[in-house]
Amino acid sequence: MTEEQKEELVKKALEARQFSYAPYSNFRVGAALLSKGGQIITGCNIENAAYSPTNCAERTAVFKAVSEGIREFEAIAIVGGPGEELPKETAAPCGVCRQVLMEFCDAKEFQVLLGKGDGTWQEYTLEELLPLGFSLTKTEQE
Ligand code: THU
Repeated sequence: MTEEQKEELVKKALEARQFSYAPYSNFRVGAALLSKGGQIITGCNIENAAYSPTNCAERTAVFKAVSEGIREFEAIAIVGGPGEELPKETAAPCGVCRQVLMEFCDAKEFQVLLGKGDGTWQEYTLEELLPLGFSLTKTEQE
């Protein structure tokens, strides 16, 4: 992935954050998932009055993609923070989202870009964020 592609992905995550529905936590998150075919699928967090039906931005993006037949991914950018202003800090994906990414991504290769409102980011592999992650499909393939 080029630096320009990464920059673009972080920008798309920031744009997706505009659609965040977070009336309960006011923590607004956007994600942009890059498929191996070069498509960008965005997502935002979608909260619920009953709390547990809440869906994180990352899972929204993964589920949108998989439900449209896209299952191979290269990277995801995530931008999250409180309120309407641009996030000053990075927000890391929750454990459930890490596990969902594990289902479809090669943990050693897949890149997770944690973006900030100024367009900068920190990057990790999924393996760094989820060491010894659980997978049945990957065990079967070996
Ligand atoms: N959230 C995400 O969208 N992604 C994460 O990985 C962490 C948490 C959302 C869920 C909830 O709407 C809000 O942030 C506060 O937890």
